[in-house]
Amino acid sequence: MAPAPSRFRTIGPEPSDRYARVPFAAPSIGPDEIAEVVATLESGWLSTGPRVAEFELAFAEYVGARHAVAVNSCTAALHLSLIATGIGSGDEVITTPLTFCATANVVLHAGATPVFADIDPVSHNIDPAAVQAAITPRTRVLMPVHYAGLPADMTAFQRIAELRGLRIIEDAAHCVEGVANRLKVGSIADFTCFSFYATKNLTTGEGGMVTTNDTAAAALIRAASLHGMSRDAWARYTPNGNAHYDVVMPGFKYNMMDIQAAIGLHQLARLRRMHARRVAICARYDAGLATLPLRLPTQAREGSVHARHLYPVLLDSAAAGMSRDELNDRLRDRGISTSIHFRPVHLHQYYQERFGFRRGMFPVAESVYDATLSLPLSAAMDDASVDRVINACHDILR
Ligand SMILES: Cc1ncc(COP(=O)(O)O)c(C=O)c1O
Repeated sequence: MAPAPSRFRTIGPEPSDRYARVPFAAPSIGPDEIAEVVATLESGWLSTGPRVAEFELAFAEYVGARHAVAVNSCTAALHLSLIATGIGSGDEVITTPLTFCATANVVLHAGATPVFADIDPVSHNIDPAAVQAAITPRTRVLMPVHYAGLPADMTAFQRIAELRGLRIIEDAAHCVEGVANRLKVGSIADFTCFSFYATKNLTTGEGGMVTTNDTAAAALIRAASLHGMSRDAWARYTPNGNAHYDVVMPGFKYNMMDIQAAIGLHQLARLRRMHARRVAICARYDAGLATLPLRLPTQAREGSVHARHLYPVLLDSAAAGMSRDELNDRLRDRGISTSIHFRPVHLHQYYQERFGFRRGMFPVAESVYDATLSLPLSAAMDDASVDRVINACHDILR
């Protein structure tokens, strides 16, 4: 069936060939999400309310955590989790340089200092040995990121945290379906933070969630997500609600809306099917790209589940006779959208100027950055689009 005409123009350059574009990460939105958003709009309650409460309960049950607090981004989730650990000036948080800037920015927002430890060359997740070497008397928190959806070695980080008296905040922006060594991501660490941004495996447009088993911390995060108020608006306006509230801390405006939760509820219900589609697409890429000068993503270890958020390949430039940027440009010329995950945080101007970071300090993360290219991946992608990407890679790299 031909797609319905859109009132919105596609953003970005038009493809120079005769094909339609293959989007990088098109959201998979079904009729249930659309109907629930319409019902929410018609309900008269748009902001934090019953649908957010229902989404939080369903999400906590899904990951097997005692509490889930919905917020408006993973960035907010990470910031509030850091605040809940009580860290501040002089404290250090160890994380990976191969991540989105938000992971490190929030450490600065919390008044602490981000410390980077290099990644493992196979998993591209932060290397437990490098973490050990980066620990100082000021270290308070470990913040592993499950890069691309491949669970980090949580068993190793738990052991380190226990020995050194540290807290763990997982950045699980890429890993909503993940299982790390037989434990569901979201049920393992002190805090786990998820992203529901438009490109994520489960989307609410913008949105995020913190899961934790710590009841006091969950209450603090909930209050901090809405100005530090002791009671949210839904609780105040219900028939038995009390109109009075107290401000118990100077909080933030990080709350999720019911309009977002309306989407999230149905995304969560479809997550298993959407993940199965991602797994199938990755298997098709693995088979189709195997003979090219590309290193394909690492598989999850026995007992773990890869969330398959991204499909980053590493180009062997010498064998291919071209740079990663040239491959990127040539795929774009064929209407194939790609992305780069990530320019390591220590190579960004702010971090270089403030902390004196330089190229060469985290060589494994830098070598991944220099060679990596993420190919299109979304549960909404059909086999014909996957084959177009595979065929384009063969044409270009032949
Ligand atoms: C690893 C990682 N952490 C955190 C974030 C921030 O997520 P959000 O956009 O929901 O704040 C992202 C976003 O892409 C990410 O990739």
